[in-house]
Amino acid sequence: MQGSARNIAVFGAGYIGLVTAACFAHLGHRVTVRDIQSERIRLLQAGDVPIYEPGLGELLAENKELLTFTLDAAEAVNDAHIAYICVDTPPTASGDADLSRVWSVIDSLRGAAHLTAVVVKSTVPVGTGARVRTALDAAGLSHVGYASNPEFTAEGRAVADFLHPDRLVIGTDDPATAQLLRDLHAGIDGPVQTMDVASAEMVKLASNALLATKITFINEIATVCEATGADVTRVADAVGLDHRLGRHFLNAGLGYGGSCFPKDSRALRAMASNSGYSFQLLNAVIEVNDLQPRRAVQRLKAELGTLRDKHIALLGMTFKAGTDDMREAPSTVLASRLLAEGATLTCWDPMARPAHTQPWSQAERRNTVTEALTGADAAIIVTEWPELLDTDWETAQHLMRTAVLFDGRNLLDPDAMAHAGYTCLAVGRATRRPTR
Ligand code: UGA
Repeated sequence: MQGSARNIAVFGAGYIGLVTAACFAHLGHRVTVRDIQSERIRLLQAGDVPIYEPGLGELLAENKELLTFTLDAAEAVNDAHIAYICVDTPPTASGDADLSRVWSVIDSLRGAAHLTAVVVKSTVPVGTGARVRTALDAAGLSHVGYASNPEFTAEGRAVADFLHPDRLVIGTDDPATAQLLRDLHAGIDGPVQTMDVASAEMVKLASNALLATKITFINEIATVCEATGADVTRVADAVGLDHRLGRHFLNAGLGYGGSCFPKDSRALRAMASNSGYSFQLLNAVIEVNDLQPRRAVQRLKAELGTLRDKHIALLGMTFKAGTDDMREAPSTVLASRLLAEGATLTCWDPMARPAHTQPWSQAERRNTVTEALTGADAAIIVTEWPELLDTDWETAQHLMRTAVLFDGRNLLDPDAMAHAGYTCLAVGRATRRPTR
C-alpha cells in the first residue's frame, strides 16, 4: 500500500465521517479527521468512540497510527491530497438540505498546497457539485478535481457496507479524479460506476427514496391485510421470492426512521417542488410513513378501550436495532401520542441515549424488558432488538396487568404469543387472542 497511500482530510466525525476515516486508514491511507465539536474530538484523541457502530472501535484502534483527530481545519488540510466532506446536511424549515457546513469546509480549503481533489460524501441536492466547483474556482483551486462519492452504508453495518459495497459511485467530469478515487479504494471489492456529478448526486437520493417507497408499499399492503385477513409476512416472503422484486425492505412495521430516509425523502421532494414539480409518489410515501405510528396507537386504543391512565411499556427506542441512534425514531412519535392520550410510559432499550426532553422526560426508563413490562396494561415492540426474542414471555405475562402486546416489528410468532397467554396485535396480521 505504501506507494499509493494518500493523505486524506475527512471533514465531519459523525457516523459517515468516522466510518470513512477508519476504513481508509484500514486500506493504508493516512487520515486526519476534523470536526467542530470539541468534546467529540477530545474523546477520539483519547481513544474513545463517541458513537456506537459495530466494528468501528476496533478499526480505529487497529489503525490509530494512521489516524489524527483535530478541531483545526488548517491542520487537516495542511498535508492533505484529498479532502472528503462528510458533514451533516440537516433539513431547513423548507425541507431543503442545509449546506452551510459544506460551504464552511470549502472556505477552509483556501491555500491548501497539496490538494488534488475534493470529494463530497454528504447527501446533497442535485446541482451542489456544480456550485462547489464554482466555489473552488473562486477560491483559487481550479487545478483541484471535484467528485461526488455518495455513501450507501446503513447504520449498524456501515463498516461492512463500506468495505464490501454493492457499488462504488464516482461522479466526476475529470478522468484523473475518477482514477484517483479508484486508486483510493484499491482493496475494496465491488463494481465501480463512474458518471457525471449530477447523476451521482441523484443516485443517492433515488436509492433512498426507492427503499423508503418499498417500505411504505409493504406498510400499505399490511393495512389492507389487516382489513382482509391476509398475513403480510406470508405475502412479503412470497412476493420477495420474485428475483425482480427481492425480499429486502419488505418488512412491515411502524414506519421508517433514522437520519436518512425521512430527511432525504423530504429533501428530494423539496428539490422537485423547487423546480415546480410535485413528486406525488414521494408525497404519498412521506404521508403514509407519518401515519404509521399513529395507526398503531389508534389500534391499541381500540383494543384497550381507552389509553387514559393505562400503563404502556415501549420496548425499543432507537430507529432500528444495532444502533444508539434516536433520530426520527418512530418511538418518539409513539411516546408523544401515548402521553397525549393520557397513558403513562415505561421504556426499555439496550443502547438508546434519548435527550431529557419531551416525551422521554416523562417516560420511566427500565434496565430490563421484564422490569419495563411489570405492571403494564400493554407493551409495544418498537425496535427489533434480539433481547426481545430471548425474553421469557410466558413468565413476563404474569407480571403485566393485562397481557396485551403490539408487535410493531412482527418480531415474535403471534400464535406462540397467544399460546403464552397474550392478546397479540401485529402489523398486517390478524389479532391473536389467548389460546389458554
Ligand atoms: C439507509 C440506507 O439503507 C443506506 O443505504 C443509506 O446509505 C443510509 O440510509 C444513508 O442515507 O445514510 P439507515 O438509515 O442506516 O440506512 O437504515 P436502514 O437499515 O435502511 O433502515 C431505515 C429505516 O427503515 C429503519 O427505521 C428501519 O426500521 C426501517 N425499515 C427497513 C423498515 O421499516 N422495513 C424494512 O423492511 C427495512
